[in-house]
Amino acid sequence: MKIFIDSADLQQIREAFSWGIVDGITTNPSLIKKAVEKLKASGEQVSMGDYIKLMLEAAQGTPVSLEVIGTTEKVMTAQGLWLHEHFNSVAGNVVVKIPVNPSLQRGDGLSYEGLKTIRTLAERDIPVNCTLVFSPEQALLAAKAGAAYVSPFAGRIDDMLRARAAYPGSKTDYFPADGVKGADGVMVHDNGLRSGVQLVSECVALFHMHDIDCQVLAASLRNPQQVRECAIAGADVATVPFEVIRDMIDHPKTVEGMIAFCKDIVPEYADLLPRG
Ligand code: G3P
Repeated sequence: MKIFIDSADLQQIREAFSWGIVDGITTNPSLIKKAVEKLKASGEQVSMGDYIKLMLEAAQGTPVSLEVIGTTEKVMTAQGLWLHEHFNSVAGNVVVKIPVNPSLQRGDGLSYEGLKTIRTLAERDIPVNCTLVFSPEQALLAAKAGAAYVSPFAGRIDDMLRARAAYPGSKTDYFPADGVKGADGVMVHDNGLRSGVQLVSECVALFHMHDIDCQVLAASLRNPQQVRECAIAGADVATVPFEVIRDMIDHPKTVEGMIAFCKDIVPEYADLLPRG
């Protein structure tokens, strides 16, 4: 499974790439906002365009998803083409992120604008990451329209189910992949899905069963166990926030083991090895 970093923070991106485990970057307007606020707070002056170029270079040739901000096919297509045209020459790694359904309220007539945009961009060979996917059927439609990646938002499904079941914990806490029962003793679900991991797993199963050429990019992941379960479910990619990638390496028994090994080093062995 590939690991993307879900961040627009250049410092985090560079640091995570230095660990040798990152295969791409995903951003969205909220992550860009966070990065811009951090830049402003530090007093650093850099144009948005230059900042994006630095991110594309930091990705070392791996894919970087940049999201459009429109809600109609016309605007999203223009923005997707513009992003690709302006930035793909930097490192050849721009992926355009399009919401599966950009409606801002039911019945506003925008429900199919995402799919139409995906089709138009895919026909021009522009790779699309279809975002805000909350059901395997949305994933299927996005893949049929030509998306290269679909991004099921595991954590946000869990948020919804956690609230429905009044299950304890915060949004970064683990939510059981098998689901939980509500106060009435019945399993809570959304559209038959009992957890975000199940959403990811069903997207994977559906694509495998029908031999659909589209990568499942597990998104909105908030803790290491969720990343592990998405990997076991067969996700092609997990996009993971910096803090969660950092948590993935930690284990108290590893620290305990290191301390014990260091204590046991004999001079005969230490003298043999270069000090670095
Ligand atoms: O990968 C999508 C992501 O950025 C959304 O994550 O934690 O805001 O649901 P979250």
